[in-house]
Amino acid sequence: MNSQFSYFGPQFAFKCICLVLVAGRGLISLYGGIQFALHNCMHLGGLEVTFQAMQNFTFHNPVQIVFGKGSIAKLAKLVPASAKVLVVYGGGSIKANGVYPQVMAALAKHQVFEFGGVEPNPRYETCMKAVELCRKENIGFLLSVGGGSVLDGTKFIAAATGFKGSDPWDILAQGAEVTSAIPLGCVLTLPATGSEMNAGAVVSRNSTQEKLFFVSNLVYPVFSILDPETTFTLPLRQTANGIVDAFVHTLEQYLTFPADAPLQDRQAEAILNTLIEEAPKLAKDPKNYSARANIMWCATQALNGNIGLGIPQDWSTHGIGHEITAFYGLDHAQTLAIIWPGVARNRMAGKLAKLVQYGQRVWGLSGADAEVAEAAIEKTEQFFTTVGCPTRLSAYKVDAGEAAKRVSERFVARGQGGIGERGDITTEEVAKIILSRR
Ligand code: NZQ
Ligand code: ZN
Repeated sequence: MNSQFSYFGPQFAFKCICLVLVAGRGLISLYGGIQFALHNCMHLGGLEVTFQAMQNFTFHNPVQIVFGKGSIAKLAKLVPASAKVLVVYGGGSIKANGVYPQVMAALAKHQVFEFGGVEPNPRYETCMKAVELCRKENIGFLLSVGGGSVLDGTKFIAAATGFKGSDPWDILAQGAEVTSAIPLGCVLTLPATGSEMNAGAVVSRNSTQEKLFFVSNLVYPVFSILDPETTFTLPLRQTANGIVDAFVHTLEQYLTFPADAPLQDRQAEAILNTLIEEAPKLAKDPKNYSARANIMWCATQALNGNIGLGIPQDWSTHGIGHEITAFYGLDHAQTLAIIWPGVARNRMAGKLAKLVQYGQRVWGLSGADAEVAEAAIEKTEQFFTTVGCPTRLSAYKVDAGEAAKRVSERFVARGQGGIGERGDITTEEVAKIILSRR
């Protein structure tokens, strides 16, 4: 298995949790190193699809989750006493919301260094400054305090510090093997990405407007502290982003074609139903602990590998969305809310059986298959909009025609093959999907 990953690309495979089908190459695993071979034959929506009931898999997720209010104090024992610790954080939210003093109090007996300023969509250029600090001070443990961007940046810092090649960017752009990493832990303040319990990281580079990912078992956090109270201060925009990201992570794994995996289906539906039930509670009361806790746990479960085991996976929405973030700076989840409905309609025939199941079980719809499928997509769009993520490019003043051109030209330049669970979303279809979201 190629160690490189991006949700797609000539050299992709987010190798820790998710699965992506690449035409002519079988299925490449994202986040997990799981091969999904296609065997037996079935017919779906007029398409012939071959599949083998639940695929073989190996699953080992080593992350210790420490969940609940007051958990930050446990850092005192979780972080190795002898190591020089680098606390990595973002633009200052942890200083405004009281997380920083809790972390520093817990680490009072440790030798602590700090690195702040990791941006949303963490930048390679910034992370490399932390790499210099780690090398200079011989840092032995990294503690990420913040959202998914800080954590992904920390994972990259961990892998880049001891990188033997000439440029650690090669880990992202060339799939260069990660052979060592500084151990890391996490205090998560934004439930969204699942990064707290997976081995992937997404890093952007200013100079080339690229957003790429890598995966390595060496960057699983040793532990992740999930205290829902740290999320009370999230602005509506970030609360919305987190809910939508977790929702779309679930759909990317669930909404493909039936693979006779009823447990994974129902686990995914449980996450979707829980997010739909809990989200409105936060709109009324952002400090509702139970709702914050439930959403936090949903986000972790949506991308820790569990719901995607042994099944086909899509990830085309993420692939297209990352390019839109790279070119236009939209938040990650904002791109997903726009693109997923376009993918679902564009691939309606192949996804029909699962769209109907989703409509019936998650949205309580009934009727003819095509009507249920379309209504399920509409319900999803309404949900994203109500939560706070618009579903059209025009909401962000992005010209759909220009975006379609830029993203497809990039795919062509990369020699991008088809994407999606069948590998049948060609570059032309990607352009159509983006155009449909004007
Ligand atoms: O930088 P600070 O000051 O900390 O502020 C952050 C940031 O501005 C703020 N924030 C975080 N916690 C807060 C808070 N503000 C108030 N109260 C709190 N408790 O929120 C802003 C956004 O933070 P960010 O970390 O960027 O958000 P998120 O967690 O959504 O992470 C997004 C990044 O993760 C990647 C995305 O592509 C994007 O780069 N992803 C990572 C994945 C993975 N590693 O598995 C998978 C995902 O699909 C995704 O691609
Ligand atoms: Zn995501």
